[in-house]
Amino acid sequence: MSVTSIKEFTFRDLATSESLSVRIPEVVDASYGLYVWPSAPVLAQYTWLHRHKVRGKSVLEIGAGTGLPGIVAAKCGARVTLSDSVALPQCRDRCRSSAEANGLSDVSVMGITWGFISPDLMDLPSLDLILASDCFYDTKDFEDVVMTLSCLLHQNPHAEVWCAYQVRSPSKTIELLLSKWKLRGEQVPLPDMTTVQCSVTSHAQQEVLLFALRLNTAAALEDALS
Ligand SMILES: C[S@@+](CC[C@H](N)C(=O)[O-])C[C@H]1O[C@@H](n2cnc3c(N)ncnc32)[C@H](O)[C@@H]1O
Repeated sequence: MSVTSIKEFTFRDLATSESLSVRIPEVVDASYGLYVWPSAPVLAQYTWLHRHKVRGKSVLEIGAGTGLPGIVAAKCGARVTLSDSVALPQCRDRCRSSAEANGLSDVSVMGITWGFISPDLMDLPSLDLILASDCFYDTKDFEDVVMTLSCLLHQNPHAEVWCAYQVRSPSKTIELLLSKWKLRGEQVPLPDMTTVQCSVTSHAQQEVLLFALRLNTAAALEDALS
């Protein structure tokens, strides 16, 4: 039988003295998306510090697992959908548990598998922001993740992706894939993590990179016209 424990995060904004607490139920000693990965508190803190950009916006998190960044976005006033692989219902259950633990009854949960253009993906309402935390962890999935992001950005050309990931091998970068799928990425300075408190463990934010991705509209247009 799996054992869950609650991890509580507190995000602070020193500029305004505001703070936000989030409770995330994790499955202890599990793998994959059943616990909070190191990139998630970094992306969540970035989202909290940029909450003026997410309030009232439509936000999708892919490969959400416990969905910490998406939950922060929802608590900051965004309309949020958390998604995880169609083949991993236990991870979508984690998304639901996180929403419940934070009293967020209007957070939607759905199956999105990287690399698959499903009817559900095509039927998504208009999006302003896509969040992706630690989705680039297995090189065999890199192109599927980029392809999914590209598909979402072609449907929502004004939208942005905020993506955090741990660099596991410096030789395995996503730059060529971004170019192939008509995306452009800009590395974003990491947020101050010293003000983030976690009830259980500290997180290795020094290994995490943060990127903002957008559709390369010129390349996408050229592609469409050729
Ligand atoms: C490394 S975990 C990161 C979880 C969470 N985003 C975090 O940072 O704590 C990767 C997540 O991607 C999900 N995932 C794995 N393969 C996937 C696929 N092919 N399509 C969609 N999601 C997938 C896993 O279920 C898991 O939740």
